[in-house]
Amino acid sequence: MNLAARWIAALATAALAASLARAESPEDPHRLPLDPKQVLGHEACEKCHASEVATWKKTPHSTTFLTLHQSKEAADIARKLGLSSIKRGQVCIECHYTPQASEDATQAKAISGVSCESCHGAAQKWVKLHNDYGSPTATKAQESAAHQAQRISNSIAAGMRNPHNLYLVAQSCFRCHTVPNEKLVNVGKHKAGTENFELVAWSQGLVRHNFLESSGKVNRSLSDERLRVLYVVGQIADLEFSLRATAEATEKAAYGVTSAQRTDRAAKRLIELQTKLNNPLIGQILDAYKEVKLKLNNREQLLACAIKVAALGEQFAAETDGKDLASVQPLLPGAEKYKK
Ligand code: HEC
Ligand code: HEC
Ligand code: HEC
Ligand code: HEC
Repeated sequence: MNLAARWIAALATAALAASLARAESPEDPHRLPLDPKQVLGHEACEKCHASEVATWKKTPHSTTFLTLHQSKEAADIARKLGLSSIKRGQVCIECHYTPQASEDATQAKAISGVSCESCHGAAQKWVKLHNDYGSPTATKAQESAAHQAQRISNSIAAGMRNPHNLYLVAQSCFRCHTVPNEKLVNVGKHKAGTENFELVAWSQGLVRHNFLESSGKVNRSLSDERLRVLYVVGQIADLEFSLRATAEATEKAAYGVTSAQRTDRAAKRLIELQTKLNNPLIGQILDAYKEVKLKLNNREQLLACAIKVAALGEQFAAETDGKDLASVQPLLPGAEKYKK
């Protein structure tokens, strides 16, 4: 099934899924953590992406693998939730670790911190497709534009969050950084997401890896055009995932309040952006948003809206040329704001 069809299917089953818990609604691909059975681990990337791996190893995504389970703060959260282990079991592994299925596939094991596949999708089904130029001897230089487009779309259909469509990677960040889990926040007293997570500032500091253009040698900064797309896409994904988080809110407490406020802020920023862009897809997003009520126990409506926003966000990333976004340039955070 292509992505659009998956979303339509997800929309149709959203009502059915309404009473099910988060991890139990496979109809909606973006809610799901990685499938541990399809995770290869970063070693599977290292042969061809050594520079990316080296960059990643210096980020907290990787380094906290060795420290999180020892922190008192983490132990307190786990105790409040009645969890005996942080590295094992479903809850923390989803966002703090890379889960891989054990040999007998009965349990997922944390093999590293947040890693390549946490952002780019579990790789088993796409790893051989994403760099397939047509034959074992074919090179990138010989590849036709049509073949390249097909290759990228094949990789995405096989589950790759390919940065050729920046929305797909943005969704990964927000899946974790909005912490859409009511019990974790209200009972565990975990933070209700990262405050002020803005995609450009958060991705262009220590997380940035951009080596392909220089065959692995130089970690280049992105062009202004690409940064503009990244910025707008980040605002759209913020709205999508704030809606998803609010959809899970059932009680008047920290979680529900924070996620509703976050959604309201994200929508206001998008309305502001639209005064500069007047973009038809953002127009459709705001129209969809106008119909929803930010209230507790409104899962079905909020989730349906989030799913619409997701489809439009992906379309925006696919169709938009950063050259046409010059009017957002003044809004971009400067390099001094990048997360170092
Ligand atoms: C056998 C070599 C090889 C392996 C193994 C490999 N890659 Fe790649 N990867 C490539 C090549 C070559 C490209 C450039 C493709 C192109 O020209 O578009 C690429 C591109 C990418 C891109 C950028 C998207 C794109 O299409 O340009 C991402 C993201 C990526 N790889 C992630 C990974 C991850 C994650 C792993 C490990 C699970 C991995 N790769 C394993 C060779 C490899
Ligand atoms: C939905 C994603 C998600 C889940 C599930 C999750 N966390 Fe977190 N956690 C985060 C994010 C994102 C941060 C960073 C927040 C920030 O930017 O301040 C974080 C931060 C933390 C911190 C603060 C210290 C630090 O290293 O930044 C602790 C402690 C922590 N989490 C423990 C846990 C424990 C224990 C569990 C399981 C019971 C858990 N988390 C489950 C996403 C999650
Ligand atoms: C699988 C979940 C997950 C995904 C996906 C994810 N993050 Fe994170 N990220 C975390 C957690 C958890 C932490 C906190 C690590 C810790 O301190 O224990 C974190 C920390 C960070 C930090 C370091 C913050 C600091 O205070 O130093 C940055 C920067 C960051 N993430 C950016 C991103 C960006 C950009 C993306 C997407 C391109 C992304 N993250 C995707 C879970 C995730
Ligand atoms: C926190 C999320 C995150 C993690 C972890 C992550 N990536 Fe990426 N990756 C991105 C984003 C976002 C982009 C788009 C970058 C851009 O255009 O700035 C990207 C781009 C890429 C690219 C194309 C750009 C280039 O030339 O390097 C490759 C290849 C890649 N990633 C491979 C990897 C590999 C291999 C790992 C594991 C070592 C990894 N990524 C870990 C978020 C992530």
